[in-house]
Amino acid sequence: MKKISVSILSSNNLVKDIQKINLSKADYIHIDVGDGRFVKNKFNPYKLFNKLSQETIKRLDVHLMENKPRKNIHRYASLNTEYITIHVEIEKKEKYIAMIKEYGIKVGLAINPDTPVDALEPYLNDIDLIIVMGVYPGYGGQTFLEDTDKKILKIKNMIVKSKRDIKITVDGGVNDETSKRLDFADILVSGSYVLKGENIDERIELLRTNADKLKTTKRTARRKMKEENIEKKTRRKETKVKLTDKEE
Ligand code: DX5
Ligand code: ZN
Repeated sequence: MKKISVSILSSNNLVKDIQKINLSKADYIHIDVGDGRFVKNKFNPYKLFNKLSQETIKRLDVHLMENKPRKNIHRYASLNTEYITIHVEIEKKEKYIAMIKEYGIKVGLAINPDTPVDALEPYLNDIDLIIVMGVYPGYGGQTFLEDTDKKILKIKNMIVKSKRDIKITVDGGVNDETSKRLDFADILVSGSYVLKGENIDERIELLRTNADKLKTTKRTARRKMKEENIEKKTRRKETKVKLTDKEE
């Protein structure tokens, strides 16, 4: 079953929304950090999460959109964090990956829309998660970019070939419509779509089932095709037998 990570980047009332997510069926709270360089705007809710650390129930999925994430790796590693993700576009990734691992925290690499998937290849042995950006990073509430599903498929193939257990997250523009195309994702990050809802659990469940439903539909279609092919083959064999019968 897909996991849902709720992004608080576009929240207007952080304390209230964090409480809402904590009481919801979400699996993670997605925290975005921006340094004003790698992405244009600057944001970091660390102080608030540090203050709330006794109350925060959901595990944190931290997305560092920074050129130099060292300080925030140390900070977030002391909270209830399951994943720390840095970007594949930054320098000295090996050093940062080693730092995250040292804390015993799962390592993620995020990839921007314009970065070719080959950039991930050298790191496959060292990571647990790939965040595929569905939008250009920096802001919540943007529209999902069309080519993202093709990129996810390429990444999925790459992971299968590597024989490693690497999860795929899709981040940006995930809503009730786009989630229908995201059957290869393991974790869906959604911010504005989930938080805008009156009942956030309804939206979380819809995202989960939309993506899972597609998998079942595809599986049923494949099974049907297989059955039809077997039927065709049997029919062809029968006609052959009949023809040879006649010939005799
Ligand atoms: C984009 C962030 C996303 C964003 C998702 O830079 O990394 O996590 O907040 O928000 P929505 O779901 O509104 O696109
Ligand atoms: Zn994010």
